[in-house]
Amino acid sequence: MTAGPALRLCTRAYRALPRSARHFLREVTTGRPFVTLSPHLTIAVHWAFRRLAERAGGGGPDLFAGAAYYEFGVYRGYSLWYAEQISRTYAPDNFRCLGFDSFAGLPSSESDGAHYRRGDFAAGLDEVVGNLRAHGADFDRLRLFPGFYSRQLFARFAAEFEFPPAAVCVIDVDTYESCLEVLRFMHPRWRPGSIVVFDDYNDMGASDEHGERRALREYLAEHPGLRVTHLRDVGHEAAIFEVSSV
Ligand SMILES: C[S@@+](CC[C@H](N)C(=O)[O-])C[C@H]1O[C@@H](n2cnc3c(N)ncnc32)[C@H](O)[C@@H]1O
Repeated sequence: MTAGPALRLCTRAYRALPRSARHFLREVTTGRPFVTLSPHLTIAVHWAFRRLAERAGGGGPDLFAGAAYYEFGVYRGYSLWYAEQISRTYAPDNFRCLGFDSFAGLPSSESDGAHYRRGDFAAGLDEVVGNLRAHGADFDRLRLFPGFYSRQLFARFAAEFEFPPAAVCVIDVDTYESCLEVLRFMHPRWRPGSIVVFDDYNDMGASDEHGERRALREYLAEHPGLRVTHLRDVGHEAAIFEVSSV
């Protein structure tokens, strides 16, 4: 068979595949599979949802009620997709999963530039929406907020959308500057029992002078009334905290 008919046959066979199979082939052949960069994050997210469900089931407060899952650092969308999937088991129908990312990778970082470069982990909004749709995410429960984190960006979002309190918040943004901006935005959204997962807390030698560790330390110093409790570490980099009092 010559190249022309063979190509037409392949195209017909490709088009006959279900949408999810076509998407899978695209992911594999472009070298951009739909996977998380942090496999331990899925364990941490599941652990957080189950902890809240067990508290509510055991007569404690229902922290899912009227609340949301927040994720900062979406990349290709896997961790957000995973949270939306398991929220269907643990949280009510009106629970929301909110993802925030530049969809253009990391900005430059003065503090952590030796470890991370501008543009690292770039995945465009179209790619992420395509991944989420192909894997069955429910866009009635899930919403994406594109842009580089800044006080102005978050103020614009807050003028357009009523952000519920946080049940679970995942911060997977790698650098000090990004993490501090996120914590400041989240401040009014904590309630006692909110769970915060820092994906990179023990990254960069677990130094108090860098990354998410430095951001949390400085953020807590800005808000002496806020107390957080370290619940556990997951894998070699993530740490899970609970907001004890606001
Ligand atoms: C390590 S990746 C997230 C990985 C993802 N959670 C996963 O499990 O695959 C870090 C993400 O944080 C985003 N990010 C970091 N700092 C940001 C900022 N200041 N503004 C917007 N997005 C930022 C990057 O665009 C990137 O997608």
